[in-house]
Amino acid sequence: MPISADPIVQTSALPASALSVRNLSAGYAGRMIVDGIDLDVAAGEVVTIIGQNGAGKSTLLRAIAHLLRQRTGAIRLRGADVTALPTEALLQRGLAFIPQGRSIFPRLTVAENLRMGGFLLRDAALLRARIDAQLDAFPALAALRETPAANLSGGQQRQLEIARTMVMDPAVLMLDEPSIGLAPLIVGQVFSTLRGLAAAGKAVLMVEQNVRRALEASDRGIVLELGRAKLQDHASALLGDERVARLYMGG
Ligand SMILES: Nc1ncnc2c1ncn2[C@@H]1O[C@H](COP(=O)(O)OP(=O)(O)OP(=O)(O)O)[C@@H](O)[C@H]1O
Ligand SMILES: [Mg+2]
Repeated sequence: MPISADPIVQTSALPASALSVRNLSAGYAGRMIVDGIDLDVAAGEVVTIIGQNGAGKSTLLRAIAHLLRQRTGAIRLRGADVTALPTEALLQRGLAFIPQGRSIFPRLTVAENLRMGGFLLRDAALLRARIDAQLDAFPALAALRETPAANLSGGQQRQLEIARTMVMDPAVLMLDEPSIGLAPLIVGQVFSTLRGLAAAGKAVLMVEQNVRRALEASDRGIVLELGRAKLQDHASALLGDERVARLYMGG
């Protein structure tokens, strides 16, 4: 039985949003995939989107990042309407997106990758300070700063993707399946990195197939079914939901 047979559950009082999405619909060449999504992510929160293959999870993140042209609805960043802004301007305003799959530059060193993350920063001193801050935050990367990224382990490469993105010091970080392809121990490290970012005041919105562990690291979750948000609730409530367990956590 699909979750859609049950009433939609909405969390009640939400804190002020870093990211606010209203009635977002999006798709490809005339085929709408994402259908009227409302969601909020506050500073300090980790929110996870779950759903079956093809539910539209990646399309939703890509639509928020304005990587899709077929799109209606409204997007606000820290209160400001940014719906019309292109992807790069969104990054400059504080919305960063790490797409699914490796996005690092394998032939470049760790330090060079971090510099690429700051390509929009014109202030060289600020760029250096931001890179140093990331090397402080990720000591494993600091030890490998002159190493080509291709030589890093999968977990280190994922940390580098996050560190590189944080060079822009975004208010909102979106990630599509950050745990994919990682060993269970490393998955825990990645999620605890994301919790650390939230503790530092960032808003984190991710898509995950590793539903149980992602929800355990999240404040709230959103269940996406056929492009619609069928359920939004506290992560603990979703973890305890028998339907969610059956459909998304293997029983
Ligand atoms: N570039 C594209 N052009 C046309 N249709 C697409 C494109 N990308 C995805 N789709 C379609 O949009 C629907 C949703 O895909 P999407 O990748 O958003 O799902 P998902 O929930 O992220 O799935 P998965 O768990 O497999 O990553 C699917 O039917 C897919 O075939
Ligand atoms: Mg996807």
